[in-house]
Amino acid sequence: MSKVHAVVGAQYGDEGKGKMVDFFAAKASMVIRYQGGGNAGHTIVNEFGKFALHLVPSGIFHPETQCILGTGVVIHPMNLVKELETLQQAGIATHNLVISERAHLVMPYHVWQDIYEEQSRTAKVGTTKQGIGPAYQDKVGRFGIQIGEMRDLNRFQARVHSAYVQKVQRMPELVEVAGSYEEMWEELKVARKVLLPYITDTLPLIKEAVQKNHPVLLEGQLGLMRDIDWGIYPFVTSSSPITGGVAAGAGIPPTALDRITGITKAYTTAVGAGPFPTMVDGDAGAWLRDQGQEYGATTGRPRACGWLDLPTLRYGAWVNGYTDLALMKLDVLSGLPEIPVCVCYELAGKRYDLPLPAYQLEHVTPVYESLPGWQEDLTECRKFADLPEAAKTYVKRIEQAVGVPVSHISVGPARQQTLDR
Ligand code: GDP
Ligand code: IMO
Ligand code: MG
Repeated sequence: MSKVHAVVGAQYGDEGKGKMVDFFAAKASMVIRYQGGGNAGHTIVNEFGKFALHLVPSGIFHPETQCILGTGVVIHPMNLVKELETLQQAGIATHNLVISERAHLVMPYHVWQDIYEEQSRTAKVGTTKQGIGPAYQDKVGRFGIQIGEMRDLNRFQARVHSAYVQKVQRMPELVEVAGSYEEMWEELKVARKVLLPYITDTLPLIKEAVQKNHPVLLEGQLGLMRDIDWGIYPFVTSSSPITGGVAAGAGIPPTALDRITGITKAYTTAVGAGPFPTMVDGDAGAWLRDQGQEYGATTGRPRACGWLDLPTLRYGAWVNGYTDLALMKLDVLSGLPEIPVCVCYELAGKRYDLPLPAYQLEHVTPVYESLPGWQEDLTECRKFADLPEAAKTYVKRIEQAVGVPVSHISVGPARQQTLDR
């Protein structure tokens, strides 16, 4: 088992990271979320039931695994309390959760601001309206509050009050949609009591685990194409889901990383706005959505669906440095006579092997190659050898085009529906 292992989204998010982190966590002593917040919706189907985790790391179902909300994460305290209650009600122990004292708070006014800013944009980002962008804006603008500041009640109250007053002064338009300070403070006080025991300096824990060669998993949220720097800006999230985000967000030196697994669906989906070259409308898109049950885990929005985009995987092979790929939802493609895969893009008579910035990517035409389909149901396959020949060819073509081995193939949402090569 690799010691420090990052699991990152190789597409637009919702690739199945939650399922694979739960799968890998069986052998991990620690799982760390290094960026993002409650915009995540990581679905896990295991012996305890079906869960959509938003903030809590997907290792929580393994009682021996320490789960860390890292420094780079932004936390809505009331929502985290609700999520912990939901888990506890399902009989899942949450005492193994630890929260970095340096993680930033998502405040109710960030949620109002997210809704307001999205309304006022001409080109919508299609955010999850969880306050993520505004919380990171305040962090970078040095207006934020770190969760460790909750410890000293009087100081915390003064900080929250002044942050609220400053926010409505700087954004008077928020007064219309904002709730009262008093209501916000009452809710925060309750959440503070629940969360205080979880908050600590996570660096010594992480440093010790890495130095002692314990298996540590890093759980990315979202995916490469929504990365603030390398994604389809401005239709991106406000953090770095790429492997590069691990060092800053978890506090692990880049040299400590041993393995980087890119999680990709066997096709492509996206929620939110922005260019998506291989998207298919009409019957084919609806067929994929139906077969794959493609609806957002956080917002319930129908996901746009399309064919596999090899340039995106190739791009991630460099930017994220994949050592291997996990190919998810291969079962969904059963029943097609042939399967188009995008091998490159065309723009103004030129061919491109890698994605371009959003302002150019919206004009490209995908160039497709057609691979043979298969009719067999894959959900009972447990070994690579069980797959039909055409499905094996599909996997091998991806490996060849991306130059990275496919280490795992997923043929259903459950833990055991995972082929380990
Ligand atoms: P994440 O955000 O990357 O964790 O992915 P989501 O949980 O948002 O979306 C992935 C969806 O696909 C969830 O509903 C999973 O239960 C489901 N899923 C994961 N792997 C497979 C698979 O191999 N086959 C099928 N049919 N569903 C899968
Ligand atoms: P997981 O972790 C899919 C998308 C939104 C929008 C953009 C910015 O389950 O992959 P934000 O709320 O972050 O400001 O929205 O990012 N988005 C997601 N899409 N899955 C998610 O999480 C997402 N989190 C954000 O749709 O385009
Ligand atoms: Mg998701």
